[in-house]
Amino acid sequence: METEKLKQLAAERAVEEVASGMIVGLGTGSTIYYALLKLGEQVRDGFNIIGVPTSKQTEEIAAQQGIPLSTLREHPVIDLTIDGADEVNPTLDLIKGAGGALVREKIIAHASKRLVIIVDEGKLVEQLGSNFPVPVEVVPFGWGSTQLALNQICRRSTLRPDFVSDNGNYILDCTFDGIPDPAATESIINNLPGVVENGLFINRTDQVIIGADSGIQILKREK
Ligand code: A5P
Repeated sequence: METEKLKQLAAERAVEEVASGMIVGLGTGSTIYYALLKLGEQVRDGFNIIGVPTSKQTEEIAAQQGIPLSTLREHPVIDLTIDGADEVNPTLDLIKGAGGALVREKIIAHASKRLVIIVDEGKLVEQLGSNFPVPVEVVPFGWGSTQLALNQICRRSTLRPDFVSDNGNYILDCTFDGIPDPAATESIINNLPGVVENGLFINRTDQVIIGADSGIQILKREK
């Protein structure tokens, strides 16, 4: 099956987790797009949810779909968030942020009672940092010095060209040759002055819904 079909399969299965009356965190990216289409369809059929978007891009698509929207200020606790990921390891830890929305995504994930991640099977890895860089959002002031410090932690980093985040910041994409201790790496990066947040999402995922050639696979966090 082509990748787009696998993304759609996973996204539509995740929407089945949404119950009427829920406050729903809406992730960012090409996989969540299919969930937004499905949720929009259901809302137009009378389904009652309020969405809290993780990016301006998602806000726009969700609004076009007629999904009622709110903010974390009005709804600081979210029932369920559905979001995509760039890499997922066997303990359901993630790299996120290829779409540049990692800061708002992590804030919303943290505010959520449940985080459901949707991916196609190509996103599964044995070790994080194998295929994708870890995006690090940095404040523009002194970003060159922040990059020098980051280069002590990863193999190399590159400034994402022509990109400013929804928060007005830059992103440095940090390439690793695998990340043996993602929890430690997440904290070490976030401890650098100038770093706003990084794309390692550790111990946050409750469920991963995978669109695979063989059908849907579901992984759940061991409690
Ligand atoms: C957005 O910043 C990202 O975290 C996305 O959720 C992630 O990159 C997955 O995106 P796709 O679904 O487009 O692969």
